[in-house]
Amino acid sequence: MSTAQQVPDILSPEFAADPYPAYRLMRDSRPLIWHEATQSYIISRYEDVERVFKDKSGQFSTDNYDWQIEPVHGRTILQLSGREHAVRRALVAPAFRGSDLQEKFLPVIERNSRELIDTFRHTGSADLVADYATRFPVNVIADMLGLDKADHARFHRWYTAVIAFLGNLSGDPEVAAAGERTRVEFAEYMLPIIRERRGNLGGDLLSTLCAAEVDGVRMSDEDIKAFCSLLLAAGGETTDKAIASIFANLLLHTDQLAAVRADRSLIPRAFAETLRYTPPVHMIMRQSTTEVTLSGGTVPPGATVTCLIGAANRDEKRYRDPDRFDIFRDDLTTTTAFSAAADHLAFALGRHFCVGALLARAEVETGVNQLLDAMPDLRLADGFDPVEQGVFTRGPQSLPVRFTP
Ligand code: HEM
Repeated sequence: MSTAQQVPDILSPEFAADPYPAYRLMRDSRPLIWHEATQSYIISRYEDVERVFKDKSGQFSTDNYDWQIEPVHGRTILQLSGREHAVRRALVAPAFRGSDLQEKFLPVIERNSRELIDTFRHTGSADLVADYATRFPVNVIADMLGLDKADHARFHRWYTAVIAFLGNLSGDPEVAAAGERTRVEFAEYMLPIIRERRGNLGGDLLSTLCAAEVDGVRMSDEDIKAFCSLLLAAGGETTDKAIASIFANLLLHTDQLAAVRADRSLIPRAFAETLRYTPPVHMIMRQSTTEVTLSGGTVPPGATVTCLIGAANRDEKRYRDPDRFDIFRDDLTTTTAFSAAADHLAFALGRHFCVGALLARAEVETGVNQLLDAMPDLRLADGFDPVEQGVFTRGPQSLPVRFTP
């Protein structure tokens, strides 16, 4: 029988090294844990995490973002609820789907991917994390916003500090201070650009945000600045991990890599399975608005609930053989995987379902296609075994590969 002691603490080095055995123990024997250090209730079963995200009866809010991210971004869409959230979401969502995505931003995505691959396509070797994944999505967002390419290194530094702040579960004061400094630096950088752009609108995403209007509501300079800050982190780090993970998964399953290489229409399947098997974001929090019963236990009102996406996505009650990476599995739907009807939890579900899911899909599809074209006999460097890193967000630390140029 499993006991409390046998489930490794989510802040322990053992958990960070490999959370998956711990996730299984939690689902099996401790599906609701009070975690003293993070002052939160941890849930791990698919049915519980799905219920909290969908929140059909209004029992959960996203007020937790008041302390989780407002100190670094300012107030963002993630914290809003009800009509305020719906209006704000309607302002920004069109830029991330449909004709804006296909016509305006797909060329930006393709160009940024190509430019990065050009730096290593003739060399026969690359680190797909350092040379590609950590740069590509952040370059895309900066370019979509119409910001200066020369500033990309700065964006990368900012989003790294912001993600560290979000994942600072143990409360390291230096990490907290670096995150808060980012808010000041980003505002100093961004506010003058927003003011200038308002008077000089173009075809870029920042101009769209400046001009967007729903029911007579516009975004203030501060709103736009906070949203851009969120975009750098929400769209940078996550897609970075997604690209690294899809390649790690395929390189470790060479038959599936060969299948995707031969039939590129399998890329969305491989991406959906990657999101299930190794989600970029392993945990998302919510706050209870009332007393709630989950997996037989009680959560009081006003409590923080930590939803373990990484655990729920491997729930054996939901997926057959869940610890197996299998792009051909029939219990995961690819057609809905990038919409709020998804049957994995990597983008959350419900009102706050990732607004950038289709953009992420476009980036991953473009990236995988171009990399496979550039690297015909792609393989991991001899003897290299990918190591995942991170507890809040997670992905391979590095991915050295070899190929015939
Ligand atoms: C594979 C890549 C991605 C993953 C795994 C991911 C994951 C998530 C998750 C889990 C949420 C829900 C947060 C919550 O409910 O508390 C979310 C929301 C959000 N994501 Fe993503 N994301 C990805 C890519 C992107 C991209 C590319 C963008 C845009 C550039 C983006 C922008 C956003 C925004 C703005 C929200 C807030 C939506 C709202 O509050 O209504 N994400 N994402």
